[in-house]
Formats: sequence, structure tokens, C-alpha cells
Amino acid sequence: MTEPVAVTDEGAVRTVRINRPEKKNALTVAMYGAMTKALREADLSDAIRCVMFAGAPGAFCAGNDIADFMQAAAGGRWETTAVDFLKALASSRKPLVAAVDGVAIGIGTTMLFHCDHVVAGADAMLSTPFLKLGLIPEAASTLLAPLRLGHARAFSLLVMGRPLSAAEAKEAGLVNSVVEHALVDDVARKAAHDIAALPPRALAVARGLMRGQAGAVVKQIETETAHFGELIKSDEARAAFQAFFARKK
Ligand code: COA
Repeated sequence: MTEPVAVTDEGAVRTVRINRPEKKNALTVAMYGAMTKALREADLSDAIRCVMFAGAPGAFCAGNDIADFMQAAAGGRWETTAVDFLKALASSRKPLVAAVDGVAIGIGTTMLFHCDHVVAGADAMLSTPFLKLGLIPEAASTLLAPLRLGHARAFSLLVMGRPLSAAEAKEAGLVNSVVEHALVDDVARKAAHDIAALPPRALAVARGLMRGQAGAVVKQIETETAHFGELIKSDEARAAFQAFFARKK
């Protein structure tokens, strides 16, 4: 059976490929676990110098699996596995590259605020419909998006749920380059190898200085998670989850 998260190492670059195309790469609890493990291992490895996230053609990631949201809404505690992944992202010691082809929804977009270099396909679409689901944005995006995009653009994306095209995301400073869809992985892989070839100590110091303290970001993740955990059990969130699965009936 194909693993929904495939981790491969090529030279000093680790690729973490989200690979559940039949569900548009929606992330389950198990998938978060696999991605956290891949990041934590990379942190501890001298051989890995850069981690690249990639998806399937047309689907980088459709966000959290809404069936898992429904389970959390049904009384389970909000899933700590997802939060572990967010913290691993925020505190990753290795540079992070993303190859974004197609849809990047919810965490598929908010994880990009933690990446150091993002390549997107020309028809990529970034969106965060959290509010429409009765939820709030996560992954410290409430802190990082206004810093990166400015309040107006961040509000439009995160709160109003208006998508960003690849070109708009580049113009907004979230994406480095926009390339033809078939070239996304290759261009991102080249960037990852370029980063991995830099002198590792100087790279770690420069990156650390540029990213500042991870502590404030992790704290924001915790604060968001507390609200998220309350909201996910609200009537409006439950109704939105049910509406998603009922939409084709
Ligand atoms: N959670 C669970 N299942 C999801 C999913 C998600 N986040 N996103 C897509 N899927 C599933 C669909 O239910 C469908 O499954 P089915 O074939 O068993 O019915 C399959 O993936 C394909 O999705 P579909 O909606 O048929 O494809 P599409 O091309 O018409 O639309 C999306 C693709 C991604 C735009 C649409 O599925 C979507 O909006 N997904 C939800 C995104 C979302 O709100 N994520 C949470 C963000 S916080």
C-alpha cells in the first residue's frame, strides 16, 4: 500500500511528500505523526541539511481531514498530533522548502509561513477557509501572516477566506517563484539542493537570526489551539463539517 506520507532522502535533501491524492492530500492524524517524525529526525541528522515538502499533482494539501475535525467535535480532545507537527515546523532546525502545485488549503497554506523558500505552480490556489468552518486560523498564522503580508492582505486571506492565486501570493511575499505546473517539484528541489550546499554552520546562524525566537511562535500556536479546541465543538463548526460531507448528496 502507498504511504500517505512518503519520506525520501536524496543527498542532503529530505523530501516529505504528502501523498493521498484521492482525498486531495487532506491530512489525517497519522499523517501529521509521520511528518513530525520526518522533521524531528532531520533536526537530529547532520546528513540532512534541508527539508522539502511536496504534494501530488494538483493537490499540495487540502487541509486537515474534515472527518478528523468531526471526531474532535464529537467530544474528543482537540488532536495534539497536529499541534506537535505545527511546533516541529515552527522550531525546525533545518531550512524548509515547499513545492506547491494545485490546492493549498488551511494548513496547506498556513504551513508555508514557516517555509524558507516556496515554489508554486502557476495554477496553485492558496486559501484558508477557517472562518467558514466556524474555526480560526492556526499554525501561528495569526502572528506570521500580518507580519509577512501586512494586516489588510492577511485579514482578507485568513479571516475573509479570500483565496490567493500563485501570482498574488508571490506579489505578497509568501511565494518565491511561480513556474509551470509540471516544473514545480524540479525547481523546488533545485532550490533545496542549493540551500543544502551552503556552509551548514553559517546557514544555521543566518537562518536563526532571520527567524528570530521560535518561542513566540510556539506560544501563538498554543493560544490559537486553545481557541480552536473550543470552537471545533461549536454548533456552527459541526454544521459546517456536516455540510462539507453532504455537499454531493
Ligand atoms: N477532508 C476530508 N476529505 C477531503 C478534504 C478534507 N479537507 N478535502 C477533500 N476531501 C475529499 C473529498 O471529500 C472527496 O472525497 P470523496 O471522493 O470520497 O467524496 C475527495 O477528497 C475529492 O474532493 P472533491 O471535493 O470531490 O474534489 P474537488 O476537486 O471538487 O475539490 C477541494 C477539491 C480541495 C477544493 C475540496 O475538496 C475542498 O474544498 N475540500 C475541503 C477543504 C477544506 O475546507 N479544508 C479544511 C481547511 S481548514
